[in-house]
Amino acid sequence: MTPKTPIIELKNLTKYYGSYPGIMDINLGINEGEIFGFLGPNGAGKSTTIRLIIGLIKPTQGEISIFGKVKRAHHLEIFKEIGYLPGDIGLYKDLNGNDYLNHLLKLRMGKNYRKNNDTLMNLQKRFSIRFDKKINTYSKGMRQITGIIQAFMHNPRLLILDEPTTGLDPMMQEEFFNLILEEKKNGKTIFLSSHILSEIEKVCDRVGIIKKGKLIHVEEMTSYRTMPGKNIKIEPLESPEKTLKIINNFVEPGKVAVRNGRIEFYYKGEIQKLIEQLSQVKIKDFICETPRIEDVFFRYYKDK
Ligand SMILES: Nc1ncnc2c1ncn2[C@@H]1O[C@H](COP(=O)(O)OP(=O)(O)O)[C@@H](O)[C@H]1O
Ligand SMILES: [Mg+2]
Repeated sequence: MTPKTPIIELKNLTKYYGSYPGIMDINLGINEGEIFGFLGPNGAGKSTTIRLIIGLIKPTQGEISIFGKVKRAHHLEIFKEIGYLPGDIGLYKDLNGNDYLNHLLKLRMGKNYRKNNDTLMNLQKRFSIRFDKKINTYSKGMRQITGIIQAFMHNPRLLILDEPTTGLDPMMQEEFFNLILEEKKNGKTIFLSSHILSEIEKVCDRVGIIKKGKLIHVEEMTSYRTMPGKNIKIEPLESPEKTLKIINNFVEPGKVAVRNGRIEFYYKGEIQKLIEQLSQVKIKDFICETPRIEDVFFRYYKDK
């Protein structure tokens, strides 16, 4: 089987703002049908990368392909197949939500806009917002939802969403994740950025980490979801030395830490065996946690 052409391909993509580097030498392929999370702290270069992909700014160096074609100029045709949510969406505040969305849909689809009316109405129904009210009365979350709806309403094949979860309350966030998971089932490709991994980890197939303009790591999320180990913390009631000795018998030495009278280690074996061994000593507290994905990723933010 020949490998599929990525739906977005970035080759040595570089953008300088004057002499100031925005992003440097990014190489990345986004596969059709995946949800890709683009993760990085503020100022890392997420929006720069996204604006380059959309064609709002020009690269200093490098190449962008979309749908298998090298992007040379601003091709309007492509925009019928892309849904874009900017990081700082500006809405026409004097319009009501309905008029704004319908107006945009007409601009985007021309005569065919009626074909997408049902899609737009179904999207509006998902989120309980009064779209008949003027946008200048909307909360941050309501404006963000309006921005999200405009990205999805023309049923595009590829969605590029810059920090879509910003300002959403937990209910809105859940509905938004339901929406992107459904769209993925319909074969859509979703590229979304965030600076908070825990918000997006559940929906992403892969996550790429960008820091100071460089893509430093790309990871399949399944490998983390199925990670077998646990973080164990034990507080001995008496004889901490004996407890430590037992633990050292089946955990690699050097992997066990003692902090504030608590013995802490990462354990991949069977929990039953651990408990059997520990029954030889008295313990005051026993904590068994699934490692947070955030902790695993955090070292990339810190170290590299
Ligand atoms: N229009 C611009 N002019 C000059 N510098 C910019 C501009 N846009 C972004 N930058 C700089 O490029 C870097 C990356 O910014 P950005 O892509 O917006 O990061 P992110 O979206 O990850 O927060 C930042 O240091 C930012 O200050
Ligand atoms: Mg940004």
